Amino acid sequence: MITHDDDLSPHRPVMPDEVISFLRPSKGDIIVDATIGAGGHSCEILKKIGPDGLLIGIDKDAEILKIAGRFLSKISDSYKLYQADFVNLDCVLEKLKISKVNGILLDLGVSSLQLDSLDRGFSFSKEGPLDMRMDRTQGITAEDLLKRLSEREMADVFWKYGEERKSRRVARAIMYERKRGTSIKTTTQLAKIVEKALYVPRGYSKKKAIHPATRVFQALRIVVNDELKSLEQFLNDACVFLAGGSRIVVMSFHSLEDRLVKRAFREGKSTSLLEILTKRPLIASDSEIRENVRSRSAKLRAAERTYL
Ligand SMILES: C[S@@+](CC[C@H](N)C(=O)[O-])C[C@H]1O[C@@H](n2cnc3c(N)ncnc32)[C@H](O)[C@@H]1O
Repeated sequence: MITHDDDLSPHRPVMPDEVISFLRPSKGDIIVDATIGAGGHSCEILKKIGPDGLLIGIDKDAEILKIAGRFLSKISDSYKLYQADFVNLDCVLEKLKISKVNGILLDLGVSSLQLDSLDRGFSFSKEGPLDMRMDRTQGITAEDLLKRLSEREMADVFWKYGEERKSRRVARAIMYERKRGTSIKTTTQLAKIVEKALYVPRGYSKKKAIHPATRVFQALRIVVNDELKSLEQFLNDACVFLAGGSRIVVMSFHSLEDRLVKRAFREGKSTSLLEILTKRPLIASDSEIRENVRSRSAKLRAAERTYL
């Protein structure tokens, strides 16, 4: 069993044993970690592939890549890191003159390091600017998004991407603030508006319930980073890069993401390019959920490239 070493990587990886046993990295392999984050999973992969292997780490977030590099270099130098959207894996592989790899890992969403960075705006529990972009050089911020969307569009976003049942009520509250000239610029400002809109009772237990703003923040993050579009496109092309007999492992944290993975794997099976290894998605064990709350909504699916 893999035990987490905080000195090696500050992000506690989700389902590390399951990821490694499905991915099966071995000596000399070329493995792509397309969402390397702080390198939690990749540190384990690097140990398995040894000095003759190559780990290709991709992340949209330049800041987190620096952290990953610091931790990976403690293990070996058999890695290369790229700041890119994983949808551009073809460009990364072209630069390296590599056509096929022996495994691909996707661990979607944000890492705990991004959540803990106050200036990134991912977390509602700490004061920070409403940014939420993984790549801070591109795209619009959550603050801009909230300024641009109509009440109806906001409600649709909260409903579709956050599965927020009271999406209209939240959208109405934001619109009310906008109309009275309030600039919604910070995370805690938005969190308070959502809390008020959802009438959170005073005595609500922070331990038992998820924070009332969780769904709204998740929805905004998904839209700001266009996360589902990247995932759908990536999954369409992933088979092309996998060598026969190698595997793709995807961990998702949202039902819409999981649906895209399930559909892509089914399509791969129907064209005989993929063998599905997980009939149903794997979920984290109770003990892991107790130790790492982020793992509670994780769903892992894996598939193997056929030799066609
Ligand atoms: C959950 S974290 C990965 C954590 C990592 N497995 C670990 O153990 O440290 C997800 C990472 O994926 C990155 N990311 C999300 N969507 C991306 C995309 N479309 N392209 C590249 N990186 C992306 C985020 O910036 C974040 O660092």
